[in-house]
Amino acid sequence: MYSDRLKRISVSPTQQITSETDNLKRQGIDVIDFGAGEPDFFTPKHIKESGIAAIQNNVTRYTPNRGVLELREAICEKYHKDYSLNSASDEVIVSAGGKQALFNVMMAVVNEGDEVISHTPGWPSIFEQIRLAGGRPIFVDTRAENGFKLDADSVVGAFTPLTRAIVINTPCNPTGAVVDPTVMEEISRVAHDADVWVILDLCYERLIYDGSGRDLLHIARDLNPDRTVLIGSLSKSFAMTGWRCGWAIGPKGLIDACNVIQGHSTSNACSISQKAAIAALSGPQEPVDEMREEYRKRRDFLLGRLSEDSRIRCNSPEGAFYLFPDITEILSHEGIRTSQNFSELLLKEFKVAVTPGEAFDSPGFLRLAYTAPIPRLSEGLDRIMNFISSVDRR
Ligand SMILES: Cc1ncc(COP(=O)(O)O)c(C=O)c1O
Repeated sequence: MYSDRLKRISVSPTQQITSETDNLKRQGIDVIDFGAGEPDFFTPKHIKESGIAAIQNNVTRYTPNRGVLELREAICEKYHKDYSLNSASDEVIVSAGGKQALFNVMMAVVNEGDEVISHTPGWPSIFEQIRLAGGRPIFVDTRAENGFKLDADSVVGAFTPLTRAIVINTPCNPTGAVVDPTVMEEISRVAHDADVWVILDLCYERLIYDGSGRDLLHIARDLNPDRTVLIGSLSKSFAMTGWRCGWAIGPKGLIDACNVIQGHSTSNACSISQKAAIAALSGPQEPVDEMREEYRKRRDFLLGRLSEDSRIRCNSPEGAFYLFPDITEILSHEGIRTSQNFSELLLKEFKVAVTPGEAFDSPGFLRLAYTAPIPRLSEGLDRIMNFISSVDRR
């Protein structure tokens, strides 16, 4: 009835939580939502106005498949300004979000049976896209006790003659960890020698709190120029998840290949979103800085609250907007056995949505998105702590 391809993958577990949460909200129930991986901020006004103007000016037709030239140039200019990265407009393709940009790349480089290395805990769509493209994901673990830092030796140790690509997500969803420049250097060198693609998912790149990890792009491109591709997006940094606008920047041959794939699937990203994207990238950048500073306050607030229970162990993430606490000491055979059960009961009994670590192949952990104002996060933490006290009494 359905294709074999579909049997390789499963529904996004993060989407399951989102739909259960939506169900409760639709019934008028007050759910505090740490589940959704998207900003609570509104898209900045000047960007929205540019979208509205695009509709009024009838920018409502197909655009070039790979995106309008003005936007591709704006993307090149932005990376040049921020990272002194030189790229030409024909090395850029605009897609319906970073997710589609990543999907195009996967379809363009992965053959049936190829191995693609990536790190866990990690964003499930990376692994499922590898499988959809016919590849086999090879998981390299990162560990809480090392701040979930990616280790070059583990990645290099996972290389085999079948290795086709490595996907690195930094800052990482769900851990917030940022890859160290020395690690990027080592991986890029080895990838270059082995003729392996390095796919850098930098969708949270504007949400790095301390300014480190910003020269990764340079390192990767300088050391492996013909086999490095970066994925970017407006979704997280500009609070534009619904606009669906992301991109890939890589060697012209790869971008041409992505263009062919996109040309037979979705064609161009939304024409209106492309206009808004130009306003986002070329206009004032203060809204991004303001949102990042607010995320930082929320991160610190939540870390403070979580530290009230010594059984919860949590790293301070360097980027993105997620905490990834280890709650194994709260779980037990007699009480709540898994982080999945913990999340289900927390939602059912205390109306707080969190994503269980199982969604990221990391049982015993929870992902908390701090995408709500501090008073709301505070109320959510009260409920979580009350839930934990009730668990202790069970
Ligand atoms: C690690 C990572 N990469 C890429 C994306 C894609 O985002 P979008 O398609 O909205 O640009 C997401 C979204 O959750 C993500 O978490």
